[in-house]
Amino acid sequence: MDIQIVKAQRKKAKLRVGIFGPSGSGKTMSALKLANGLTGDWQKVCVIDTENNSAHLYSHLGQYSVLHMRAPYTPESYIEAIHAAEKAGYEAIIIDSITHEWAGEGGILELSDALGKDAKSSYTVWAKLTPRHNKFIETILQSPAHVICCGRSKQDYALNQVEKNGKTVSVPEKIGLKAVTREGFDYEMTVAFDLTIAHYAISTKDRTGLFQDKPEHIISEETGRKLFNWNETGAETPIDVLGEKNKIKHNLARLGFAMPLDRAMAAQYVADVVKVLTELDLSVDKNLPMIVTRLEAYADPEGAQATYGLAVEEREKAAEPAPEPANDNATSANAQGEAETPEPAQAA
Ligand SMILES: Nc1ncnc2c1ncn2[C@@H]1O[C@H](COP(=O)(O)OP(=O)(O)O)[C@@H](O)[C@H]1O
Ligand SMILES: [Mg+2]
Repeated sequence: MDIQIVKAQRKKAKLRVGIFGPSGSGKTMSALKLANGLTGDWQKVCVIDTENNSAHLYSHLGQYSVLHMRAPYTPESYIEAIHAAEKAGYEAIIIDSITHEWAGEGGILELSDALGKDAKSSYTVWAKLTPRHNKFIETILQSPAHVICCGRSKQDYALNQVEKNGKTVSVPEKIGLKAVTREGFDYEMTVAFDLTIAHYAISTKDRTGLFQDKPEHIISEETGRKLFNWNETGAETPIDVLGEKNKIKHNLARLGFAMPLDRAMAAQYVADVVKVLTELDLSVDKNLPMIVTRLEAYADPEGAQATYGLAVEEREKAAEPAPEPANDNATSANAQGEAETPEPAQAA
C-alpha cells in the first residue's frame, strides 16, 4: 500500500470567494467592500461587469476599475476578461456575475439548447460543453489574483407527491435559494456566502473557519481584512484523501462503472475513467475535491457510460494478463454503489 505521511504546511493561496443572492441582496456592493478590505487599495480592484453597468453604481466608494462584458457570455469570453484583468495587474478580480456564463445569452445552457437538447444527444452535447465550462472554472482557480464570484440565486423547489381526493398529485415545496450556475460551483470556493434580501451573509462553505457557526453579518471591509489575515498566516484545510477517494468510488458506481475484479487493473481503470470524465489526474491529491465535484455534476449517467465506458472496456481487453478472479479485498461494485469497490487509494 502506498502511504505517505507529510507535515502539514501553511500555504499562502489566493482566495476564491463566492457571493450568491437574489437581485438587490447586495452582491455587488458586498463584493466591492470585501475586495477593498482584502487588498487595502481600491486601485487594485477590478470588476468584470456583465450586469449592465451596475458596477458603476458604487463609484463613490473608491477608485476601482470596471471591465464591461457584453453578450455572448461564452466561457471563453469570461476567460479572456479574467486574463485581461490579470495582465493589468489587479490583485482582486470581481466577476459580477458568473451567472451569465451559465444562464445568459451565449452561456452554456443556451449553447446546449442550440446543440440539441433531446435525451439521445444530451451526452454528446455535454461531452462538448463540460470541458468549456471546466476551463472557465480552472481559470478562476488558477488566477494569480483573488477572485470574487458573484452569482444570482433563485428560489429552488422540490416536487412532493401528495394524496389529494384519492389521486397522487405533485405539489411544489420551496426548499431555499439555489445559485444559478452549474451544480457544485461553491465547492470550488474558499468561502461562499448566501445573501439575504436584508443584505445579511450566511456562509455556506468555509475553508477558513472564520464564518462557520457565526451569526450572519453584513459584509464590509472588515470581512475582507479578516480574510486577508487568515490568508497571510492561516492554514489551509488539508485534503481528506481517503474521504475524497471514497466519494469518487461512490460516484463512479452511481454513473454505472463496474470495477474490474483485479486490483491492479481496477486501479488503472479508475484512473482512466476519472481522466476521461473529468480531465484531471487522480494521482494528484489536490485534484481530488475537484474530481468529486465534476463527477457529481454529471447529470446523465447513461451518457457518461456510453461515451466513455466502451473505450475503457476495449483498453481492458487489450491488457495482459487477463483479470484474476476476485479475492476478499477486491469485490466488484454492487448495485447500490457501496464502498466495496477496490480501493482507488492504492490505485493512485
Ligand atoms: N454589504 C452591504 N453593506 C451595506 N449596504 C448594502 C450592502 N450590500 C447591499 N447593500 C444595500 O443594498 C443595495 C443593493 O445592493 P447591490 O449590491 O446592488 O445588490 P445586488 O448586486 O445583489 O443586486 C445597495 O445599494 C445598498 O444600499
Ligand atoms: Mg449587482
